[in-house]
Amino acid sequence: MGNVTVIVGCHWGDEGKGRAAFFESQDAHMIVRSTGGNNAGHTIVYKGKKYALHLIPSGIIHKGKMNVIAPGVVVDPDVLIKEMETLEKDGIKVTKRNFAVSGRAHLIMPYHRDLDRLKEELKGNSKVGTTGKGIGPAYSDKADRIGIRLYDLLLPQKKLQEKIELAIKTHNQLFKANEGFENCVVDSKELAKELKQKAHKLKRFICNTDDLIQNAIRKDEKIVIEGAQAYRLDIDHGDYPMVTSSSPNTSGAISGAGIGPKYVNKTIGVTKAYCSRVGNGPFITEQDNEIGDLIRELGGEYGTTTKRPRRCGWLDCVVLRMAKITMGIDELCLNHLDTIGKIGNELGKIYICYAYKYNGEVIEYFPDDIEITGEIPKPLYISLDTGWDIPKDCKTYEDLPAKAKEFIGLVEEISEIPIKYIGFGADNKYTIVL
Ligand code: IMO
Ligand code: MG
Repeated sequence: MGNVTVIVGCHWGDEGKGRAAFFESQDAHMIVRSTGGNNAGHTIVYKGKKYALHLIPSGIIHKGKMNVIAPGVVVDPDVLIKEMETLEKDGIKVTKRNFAVSGRAHLIMPYHRDLDRLKEELKGNSKVGTTGKGIGPAYSDKADRIGIRLYDLLLPQKKLQEKIELAIKTHNQLFKANEGFENCVVDSKELAKELKQKAHKLKRFICNTDDLIQNAIRKDEKIVIEGAQAYRLDIDHGDYPMVTSSSPNTSGAISGAGIGPKYVNKTIGVTKAYCSRVGNGPFITEQDNEIGDLIRELGGEYGTTTKRPRRCGWLDCVVLRMAKITMGIDELCLNHLDTIGKIGNELGKIYICYAYKYNGEVIEYFPDDIEITGEIPKPLYISLDTGWDIPKDCKTYEDLPAKAKEFIGLVEEISEIPIKYIGFGADNKYTIVL
């Protein structure tokens, strides 16, 4: 039996994975990021202080924990360096004792950010609405076996330059051929020089993280894998092509960390009491109207990574039920229970989607042939004629308003997943642990 807890997002990201990561990290030895990159934005409010992390695992805010960026992550060195500096300003020292990054993790290069922009532009109306951080192009180069890894930063400059030269052959042709991108053409010598300068700040953290992780597993020490992105953004199981370029499901997360499934003890799925999505793609319960505007305003649904206003809608429990199986979810962290109560106070009603009407049938799965049938699934809702306010001194489940408990019961019943954490405010102190 292992001692690995995996935290995953159940919908389209921004569910508040940082809260579950924070609580689960308290008794953990190690916290690992293993998928995605700085497309993630994990905000933690602790003791009144806000930490917006994009790459470094959120366990860094606890003292005495090891935080690891595993091989499955794509790392933008500029973002990593800046994040370390910001943490230091906040009084958290990043040292070899609390942070390590895999030498096998791939780098997001400046040309990946340019390619992200160019490819989105070329897609026109079919664009994904990426975070623009270079994630897709970095993973493409990795799959094409021309990626540059953190270990490459430790090579002599000439060797690093040769690797970059190989990688940019086709990219430079693309830049030259597209108006407005000519100045993105890469000078490999210059770039290798710049990277070697940055390498000084990172080299002491670059190592073989397999050794760290495997030793923790052997000693049965608790490891928390802090997932990024979410189920419907998964490249295999999400709304392809409106997805990210990695596998943020539980299997992808443990694969990216280099841990086999038998060591996973628990998977926690994180959801909000409503849904949001940034970027394009299907969103069956979306409220592209004043209700969506209300959810956005009351929930503060603006991106931590891109500041984009998020699309908002009602909680989709069909997706939640599917996430349970695809991601092997044991328990839920339900965030924004206060927000959905306020929405109810304003509207006199709140909704939970339990099934869809599709091709004249009631279905309990997310259809993947929408493009073939030309049908748009219609959400079927259960409604509650109520709202509520949660007192800020609320400590236990018993203290919650009766209607909020009814909402929780419905979510558990439809999703078939028990709830472990309830969030009712941004600060982690507004959490009920069941
Ligand atoms: P966290 O970890 C919300 C979305 C983007 C876009 C699609 C592809 O904070 O939940 P990418 O830049 O990855 O190529 O963009 O995926 N996306 C996220 N949305 N939260 C995230 O991470 C996301 N990471 C990627 O908005 O639709
Ligand atoms: Mg996000």
